[in-house]
Amino acid sequence: MFRTLSKHLKNYTLPSILTPLFMVLEVIFETIIPLLMGWIVKFGIEGNNGAGDMNYVLKMGGVMTILVILALISGILGAAFGSVASCGLAKNLRKDMYANIQTFSFSNIDHFSTAGLITRLTTDVTNVQNAYQMLLRMAFRAPVSMLFALFMSFMVSYKIATIYLIAVIFLAVGLSIIMMNARKYFSRVFEKYDDLNETIQENVNAIRVVKAFVREDYESEELKKAAGNIYKMFVKAENVVIWNAPLMQFTMFGTMLLIAWFGAHLVVSHELDTGDLLTLFTYCLNILGNLMMLSFIFVMLTLSAASGKRIAEVLDEKTELENPENPEFEVKDGSVEFRNVSFSYSKGTGKNVLNNINLKINSGETIGIIGGTGSAKTSLVNLINRLYDVNEGEVRVGGLNVKDYDMESLRNQVSVVLQKNVLFSGTIYDNLRWGNPEATEAECMEACKLACAHDFIVAFPEGYLTKIEQGGTNVSGGQKQRLCIARALLKKPKIIIFDDSTSAVDTATDAKIRKSLKEAIPGTTKFIIAQRISSVQDADRIIVMEEGEVNGFGTHEELLKTNAIYREVFESQTGANADFDEAKGGEI
Ligand SMILES: Nc1ncnc2c1ncn2[C@@H]1O[C@H](COP(=O)(O)OP(=O)(O)OP(=O)(O)O)[C@@H](O)[C@H]1O
Ligand SMILES: [Mg+2]
Repeated sequence: MFRTLSKHLKNYTLPSILTPLFMVLEVIFETIIPLLMGWIVKFGIEGNNGAGDMNYVLKMGGVMTILVILALISGILGAAFGSVASCGLAKNLRKDMYANIQTFSFSNIDHFSTAGLITRLTTDVTNVQNAYQMLLRMAFRAPVSMLFALFMSFMVSYKIATIYLIAVIFLAVGLSIIMMNARKYFSRVFEKYDDLNETIQENVNAIRVVKAFVREDYESEELKKAAGNIYKMFVKAENVVIWNAPLMQFTMFGTMLLIAWFGAHLVVSHELDTGDLLTLFTYCLNILGNLMMLSFIFVMLTLSAASGKRIAEVLDEKTELENPENPEFEVKDGSVEFRNVSFSYSKGTGKNVLNNINLKINSGETIGIIGGTGSAKTSLVNLINRLYDVNEGEVRVGGLNVKDYDMESLRNQVSVVLQKNVLFSGTIYDNLRWGNPEATEAECMEACKLACAHDFIVAFPEGYLTKIEQGGTNVSGGQKQRLCIARALLKKPKIIIFDDSTSAVDTATDAKIRKSLKEAIPGTTKFIIAQRISSVQDADRIIVMEEGEVNGFGTHEELLKTNAIYREVFESQTGANADFDEAKGGEI
């Protein structure tokens, strides 16, 4: 994990080295000051046989001032470089995680939940950033400062310094016990964060559904529960951590009392002078304070280790779909062939979703696909532009295995109007140009006319410049589907796949779209997945899917004669007592 994260430091390596360096310099300057203070008392005030030596006091005072300024400058520089390094690391981590997420295949995306990815990109990176800053500034400073102060104390009086040593060991053991206990709770907090983010994300995304089902109270309760769990865990952790303060104070005051007691005795017996005692008191605070700081660093690191691990998981996730070594950039034509294709979503374990599929489709054909829900229609077409890879067999496009193509070139030639499609915030033009960034306004309009979207777009007061809200909430389900079709057409692909793309469009418009597509792009291979027989019956050939297998493949007339499932669906939709719901309607 540390190796993965440190790889992303890149141009922030130098500040990462400079920070501890300046912090250690600060410590060195700071630690010398109490020694000088002791000397001032010893040689300056009490020196000269008790008469005092003003010159010495002034000289040492001057040296101390310089040391203070140097310590201050080192501290400031250390802090500044620390901020640069930690913010830089956070920036790089976010950028690199995001870039890696962009390469994820659909099956990689299936591994992580959206909420999980968001927590990783935000809270987890912030944790690592804070911990890294703390680590750079304190992880060297605190132990160095402590050891340095301990060493100096031994130099001044080994008898008193022994008291420190005992105090340090006592405090270290106490803090370790406290922190070990707190750590247990803190690491659980992060799992709860995922739950909280999931609840929030799901709700905000689906707020309309929540309202439609009058589930606001229930959902608020869920959120309260998720937030409450985090609260409980934090309180538990804090209840443990809170013992830090009394332990610290007990040790500190105890040590001071002991020093005062023994120190006074030593001073009286002239084994120690007042100046040394003063120095020792300052070192005492220094040592115990640093020990406390170390315990915090320990907690912070354990906390962020959980975050770091979660970040590393995203960074280390390798896309399951790699480009071949010498990819083919040209898709010759729109022919598609499935050769003994089997496919499952969870490779190796799960049941096959598609079984032994063999299909040969010529370039320019219009293919209808029909079948019950869950019969793997979407899974079948997702293999054509390599959204997923097959387990067995091969899918060939334009006479070549899809794995031999450069992925971008393949996907530019195989356009899909996904079943669960989304529009993005921006104008209609912006959305259409997702299909082709260089499309002119005329080309956009042309595509919209083919998709029967032009008329309703120009009816908007701002026409093509109408702003689409995030997720396309300000257009109707059918309008959204038609915009998505237009967007796919702008790619001018060799193969176009409509996955239930006209389910929310009325039958007449649906027929009009099919007719205009047939006339405008006759050379393009078209796959039309539909629930309505009327949407596919004039296709060149129709595939009937049934539980992941091809149950029938032929023209409308042939299937009516030979395929029982097709005939049954046809009769149920066209018979006198057709019970088929004309427009499935609603959101897709
Ligand atoms: N991302 C996924 N991860 C795991 N299983 C999946 C995934 N997507 C679909 N499935 C499963 O694969 C099977 C086929 O689903 P698919 O979406 O291909 O059906 P479909 O014919 O398109 O259905 P519909 O008409 O409802 O769109 C289903 O049993 C489904 O549960
Ligand atoms: Mg589907």
